[in-house]
Amino acid sequence: MPTPHISAESNEIAPLVIMPGDPRRAERIANQLLPDAHCVSQVRGNGIWTGSHQGTAMSVVPSGMGIPSLSIYAHELFAEYGVQRICRVGTAGGISTNVAIRDVVVGAAAHTDSRIAQLLVPDVSCSLSADPVMLCAAAQKARELTGNEAPKVHIGALYSSDFFYLDRPDITTALERIGTLAVEMEAAGLYAAALQAGRQALSVCTVSDHLRDQQALPMNPSQRETGYATALSVAISALVA
Ligand code: HPA
Repeated sequence: MPTPHISAESNEIAPLVIMPGDPRRAERIANQLLPDAHCVSQVRGNGIWTGSHQGTAMSVVPSGMGIPSLSIYAHELFAEYGVQRICRVGTAGGISTNVAIRDVVVGAAAHTDSRIAQLLVPDVSCSLSADPVMLCAAAQKARELTGNEAPKVHIGALYSSDFFYLDRPDITTALERIGTLAVEMEAAGLYAAALQAGRQALSVCTVSDHLRDQQALPMNPSQRETGYATALSVAISALVA
C-alpha cells in the first residue's frame, strides 16, 4: 500500500535497500548495479528504483538529508513495505586524523546530538548501533579490498549531527578524543529506526571533506567514483550476507 511519501505498490520494493542521500546518486547507483532497474515511486521527485543485482532483488531509496528525512523513509520501508535490511551509502566529514579524504568509514555505532536516542526508551540514552551480521560482512569485505590503490576502510563510530553548519570545534575535539571517526547527518536515525522495527541496518560513508584539515583537497571526479565504488561493494556485501 502506498504511504504518504512512497507511491510504490507493496511488492515493488525489495527486502534489501541501498540508501544514498541524494536522489540523483540513487538513479546512478540503480543504473550501475541493477541492470533491470525501474522507477517505482516519484513522490516529491525522490525517485525509488527496484531491480536485481546478480540475481538478488534490491531497491535504491534516497533518504534526503538529515535524520528527520531519513527517518520518514526508513520507517515507511520497515513498517509498510516489509524491508529487512537498509544500508546507507553516504558521505561524511573526517574527524579523526587517522581518516583521510576518500577513505571509507563503516559506522559500527552512531553518536548524535539529535533527540532520537532519548525517544526510544524513557530516561535511557540508547546505544545506536549497526546490525552485527551486516557489520561483520562489511568488515570481511573490507579486508578483501585492502590493497595499495584501494581507499582504506575504517570501522568505528560516526557522529550524526543535526547541524551541517555549527561552529563548535569543542564538540568535534571531544568526540575525536573518544575515538569518533567522522561526522554525517543520518546514521543515528537509521539505526534507531531499525532498532525500533526489529530490522537490520548499516551505514557506509565515503569521506568527502575533513574537519581537521581544511586545506585537504576535495575528491576529484575519478577519486569520487572509486571511493563510492568501494563503499558500494562493502554495502552490497553487508546487504546480501
Ligand atoms: N558535516 C556533516 N555532514 C557531512 C559532512 C560534514 O562535514 N561532510 C559530509 N557530510
